[in-house]
Amino acid sequence: MDTSNDAAPGPAPVWFRYLAKACSRSKRHPVARYAQLATVDADGAPRCRTVVVRGLVEAPRGVWFVTDARSGKAEELAREPRVELCWYFAGLREQYRLRGRVEELDEAAREDAWARLSPSSRGTFLWPPPGTPRTDDDMFPPETRGTTPVPCFRALRLVADAVDFLSLRDAPHERVRWTRDATGEWNDVRVRP
Ligand SMILES: Cc1cc2nc3c(=O)[nH]c(=O)nc-3n(C[C@H](O)[C@H](O)[C@H](O)COP(=O)(O)O)c2cc1C
Repeated sequence: MDTSNDAAPGPAPVWFRYLAKACSRSKRHPVARYAQLATVDADGAPRCRTVVVRGLVEAPRGVWFVTDARSGKAEELAREPRVELCWYFAGLREQYRLRGRVEELDEAAREDAWARLSPSSRGTFLWPPPGTPRTDDDMFPPETRGTTPVPCFRALRLVADAVDFLSLRDAPHERVRWTRDATGEWNDVRVRP
């Protein structure tokens, strides 16, 4: 997906190529799209939950996902956009920990993201605000075919500035850390697993 108007990407860093390959090799396994997103709450305490990674972002390098602006994580991200996403590909025994900042996608990408959701996933954005007390007269529309994103729909990207890769495939395990420097170059260091 073209998620932004950012400049064309340079050559993909190795971690991005690994991740693209892991996604492609796991295509048939929907569970491989689930990753855990960690944020920090108003008290400085960690919060963590599963999100569906909707795809990789070429420029700047990262991943994108969707959420509800009324959710706890949206409030946390507004205060502290720095996050870590932990993504494990069980079939490949590979873990990717992406650190970086979360940003909103532009409106065209947001509309495209909405269009890609199933009607039932779109419907969840018409449900009452997540995390608030449930009542007997709550309405939970099973789906919507509306083509315009509802106001609470957020399409976000994680712009990575550090990646920690761990492969359990062989013994000893393989672990590599990448960091992006001020010039945008990615540097790697192979570390003990
Ligand atoms: C398999 C799975 C996939 C999920 N995908 C998403 C998602 O893509 N976006 C999202 O906001 N919540 C998703 N959720 C729900 C979140 O994990 C979480 O329960 C909800 O967003 C409220 O979290 P919060 O209060 O920390 O914001 C998913 C949950 C599961 C179990």
